[in-house]
Amino acid sequence: MTTVFHCSDLHFGHPAVPEQYEAMEALIHEFRYDVVAISGDLSQRARSGEFQRARAFIKHAEETSKVICIPGNHDVAWWKAPFALGNEALLLAAYRRYIDEDIEPVLRVPGATFAGLNTSHGVIRQTLTWRLRDISIIGIVRRSQIERLRKTFAESPAEDLRVIVMHHNPVKGELSQRHGLKNTARALGAFADMKVDLVLCGHDHQDAVHYIEHTTKGTVISTAGTVSNRMRGGRPSSVNSIRLSPEQIEISTLVWSSSDRAFVPGPTKCFRR
Ligand SMILES: [Fe+2]
Ligand SMILES: [Fe+2]
Repeated sequence: MTTVFHCSDLHFGHPAVPEQYEAMEALIHEFRYDVVAISGDLSQRARSGEFQRARAFIKHAEETSKVICIPGNHDVAWWKAPFALGNEALLLAAYRRYIDEDIEPVLRVPGATFAGLNTSHGVIRQTLTWRLRDISIIGIVRRSQIERLRKTFAESPAEDLRVIVMHHNPVKGELSQRHGLKNTARALGAFADMKVDLVLCGHDHQDAVHYIEHTTKGTVISTAGTVSNRMRGGRPSSVNSIRLSPEQIEISTLVWSSSDRAFVPGPTKCFRR
């Protein structure tokens, strides 16, 4: 059994709510999760101070758990090199400095391989859209990234659970009615093809758990809500608490209760493997 604490969109900076991230820190220490997965948007404006606070959160989690983290669109200083005009190394310079030099880390624990996938590439030709406010927001999975994932999983034991940690939601949010990814169908098709069991993502700021049926292999998608004051539709902040075993994937959403000032149990979904 592997236990996973999946949180996303912490947006350290103005949107972060101290009592909520302190409650997360307490939960992680109390339940000593095997893995803490943070699926991007650690910062609000990719500022050093925001990443320093995120770094402190990660360090605290590392006292009890292994941590895997990838960047989100808010962690990319896209204005420093739009359309590759400028030094592209600056896009994620602050993230690399304070969080991790590796923006697509791989974490192997007994029974599971977690592969980080960076879907936040700044403003590039491939994600151009007529919706101007979406220009720096949309994510994309590149062909070369799919090949790298394929190689990572091929090097894992055959019976390992295959988990991808990425930022943009590949399933349309119920309230937003938007996919986070530009090339959703291609990404989900590739995940099915490489027998991915579970995707951990965020970005939509609305928690959701889905099962994508494919002819080759079904994939469970855990979209964590935000833990900040940027909730969608007045919903509470939330995190997902996950138990992985060779037989099943169980995802419980823990929802922020302002009366209890704590994360309390919400819905649970269970999928047979
Ligand atoms: Fe976000
Ligand atoms: Fe995002």
